[in-house]
Amino acid sequence: MYGIFFEEINHSGDGALYAELIRNRNFEEAVLPSGTVYRGGYAYCPHLPNYANGTYTDWKIRWNPDSLKMIGWNVHGKVSYDITDECQLHPNTPHAMRLDMKDSCVQLENEGYWGLAVKKGENYDLRFYLCPTDYSGTVKASIVGNDGQILAEEKFDGVKKGTGWQEFTTTLTPSSADMKGHFVLEFDAPGRVYVDYVSLIPQHTFKNRKNGLRADVAQLLADLKPGFVRWPGGCIVEGMTYENRVEWKKTLGDPMQRHSEWILWNYHCSWGFGYHEFLQFCEDIGADAMFVANVGLSCCVRNGDYSGDLDYVVQDVCDAIEYAKGDVNTKWGAMRAAAGHPQPFNLKYIELGNEQSGDFYADRYNELYARLKALHPGITFISTLQLEKSRDRLKKADMIDPHWYADPMFFYDNTHLFDKEERGKYGIYVGEFATITDANLEGALAEAAFMTGMERNSDLVRMASEAPLIENSNHRDWPTNMIWVNNEQAMGRTSYHVQKMFATNVPTYNLPTKVISDTPMPFSGFIGFVGNWNQEQYRYIRICDASGRELYHCKNLSEFTQLEGKHRGMFNLLDPKVALLENIHVGTGTVEFECRVVEEAIPSDMVGHRFPGLKDATTVKVLPKFVFGSDQNAGNYLTLSFGDPGRNTLMNIAHTIDGVTGFNRNEEGTTSGMDIGRWYKVRVDMKDNRVLDCYIDGKLIYKQEVHRINRISVISGYDEQRQETIIKVVNGTDKPYNPQFTLNCQEVNPLGVVETISSESKTDENSFEHPNKIIPVTSEFSGFGKTFSYSFQPYSLTILRFKSK
Ligand code: AHR
Repeated sequence: MYGIFFEEINHSGDGALYAELIRNRNFEEAVLPSGTVYRGGYAYCPHLPNYANGTYTDWKIRWNPDSLKMIGWNVHGKVSYDITDECQLHPNTPHAMRLDMKDSCVQLENEGYWGLAVKKGENYDLRFYLCPTDYSGTVKASIVGNDGQILAEEKFDGVKKGTGWQEFTTTLTPSSADMKGHFVLEFDAPGRVYVDYVSLIPQHTFKNRKNGLRADVAQLLADLKPGFVRWPGGCIVEGMTYENRVEWKKTLGDPMQRHSEWILWNYHCSWGFGYHEFLQFCEDIGADAMFVANVGLSCCVRNGDYSGDLDYVVQDVCDAIEYAKGDVNTKWGAMRAAAGHPQPFNLKYIELGNEQSGDFYADRYNELYARLKALHPGITFISTLQLEKSRDRLKKADMIDPHWYADPMFFYDNTHLFDKEERGKYGIYVGEFATITDANLEGALAEAAFMTGMERNSDLVRMASEAPLIENSNHRDWPTNMIWVNNEQAMGRTSYHVQKMFATNVPTYNLPTKVISDTPMPFSGFIGFVGNWNQEQYRYIRICDASGRELYHCKNLSEFTQLEGKHRGMFNLLDPKVALLENIHVGTGTVEFECRVVEEAIPSDMVGHRFPGLKDATTVKVLPKFVFGSDQNAGNYLTLSFGDPGRNTLMNIAHTIDGVTGFNRNEEGTTSGMDIGRWYKVRVDMKDNRVLDCYIDGKLIYKQEVHRINRISVISGYDEQRQETIIKVVNGTDKPYNPQFTLNCQEVNPLGVVETISSESKTDENSFEHPNKIIPVTSEFSGFGKTFSYSFQPYSLTILRFKSK
């Protein structure tokens, strides 16, 4: 169910997960993104139509080769230098550093990724290439501390001019640790030398793999116990233009020979963590591999150009499968074996594209699916369609992959999103989801609440991965990322720990879980009319309870409490008033009234002043607005806005919870607003505190189940192997939640385990200074039983586990 999604974004690979310490090791940083051309300070994508809508985006990005090419490098001494392709170590990486030394003691220095981080006593494998076209002398390689102290060095004698490209290797072992050091190659004579592929990688990587992964970062990923790993993206799979897409074949082989590429997250990627390393990592952590393949389409938000050659796509995907799983006698299987892995890897999933939607993509998926599934029936081929209309075009799909980046309210509001999704067509893989506004406990708990909805529907939602996974904290492309890395530390944000708690507590099957709440719907308790009382806008108000008994009626709003200047709505220019009738429980029942749109003169001193959009207008329409809720001070209410002419609708509804207004929903099937001055009869029926029917002039124009944005979510399941009931409870409120549990089972062991993550404030988050501020705390609880009570802390996720039959 729970896996991870790795994309090179935020320097998550180069500078974080991938253990290479030298930045811009092959001097290719200033190479234009493939497929683009340089004009006047920009890299331009080709002038080609966007597959999504046929328009020409002509996507371009700022490009300054001079500032890019030296990224990571400094040169010291009497020397002239440049990065050039006139002397090539390998055609895939044509550029090299040319040094023309006028004197002895010239230094070529690399700063690493925001400093070169080394540990005392650890071994680092150094490899670099020189082409001494006109240089004879020595070269000294050293790791230097931030204070200039040499921590490790090795001198290579006998560099002789005219010998062509020569490889130099050694192991450097720093005498002390430094997190902000640098690496230096020092030359001791005048002359010309070319330098290329300078690589310094610790021997101690995750599982001690060569060309491996930073052990602490990879361990954090392994600790998530992911069921699968998705690689390599993300938008970068698509590319800013088709030529800029990820080509997995170019990520194989000796890292010295690998083509590196500018990725659309605006930096150059070494592809040191390539296809083989990804498959190896999956094996090392016992996860299934999910490869995301480009399907001939570039990112439609960028250039959106595409290739019509589907034969190429099919072959490319088949080759990727062959590399991962093919016999060693096949072309690609032999390459895998040559890379040291004759046994097949566990490639289980292939996603066809990334985040592509619409009919054009759906048709393409249909064709690719038919051809690929026939060849590889054992592979799960995932479509990138969201929960969108185009998914009706799918003839057959194994899974679809909707993504959500939203604010916490969205996730709290959508814990039941999947309950009503159609079954039987395909599974759902939620490949990317995360709160994008709140990198804190609140965001993590909202994600947890959403996950309870996924897990409750896990017959349909089979897999999920929160995203993005990692950021180097010196380079943030995306606002909220699960793991933060700097040279010293790798730490999980609260979201990381929430993911881990879910992933390590997956039941064998779900148990039916009914939450009976006596919390009143937030939308009962007061009603209010917003308007301008210079003219009458409402009349004949009548309130009945569920049985039709009249609770209240009046001819006009004279009995209502009138509040001035509160609830100012955008259609009420002139200090609107709210007429409130409080303590009237209309949560289940009917409210009837008549309302109309009035027109009002704008005082001359305000014309065009407060609403520049209405510059020349002398009158303004005051639209009726009806509000009902439990507590207007806390900000819990539903707002029904009538006659919105901008939207051509008679009414739309928005809910506000804890002062935050959620999503507007419009009725369907009406095309015009209200006529000015005409009285409309409105009836609002609230059934079971949930279903809202709204009639205008006797016609049902709106029907909606209005669920409370519930910040409490509960699911439960059974772990058959351990014979344990698992209950997950999210309490996103600021108060303890004290439910009573009633279990429908034979036996319950009173002693069990409780795992809780919480903090005092919902805005709390871990930091490099306090990486363990918010982490799960495990304790014993001896009060489990067929019925039991438990008090869940404010702002918490809690998992209860106990033996039961
Ligand atoms: O996760 C960041 C980006 O969000 C991914 O690259 C893309 O798939 C989505 O738009």
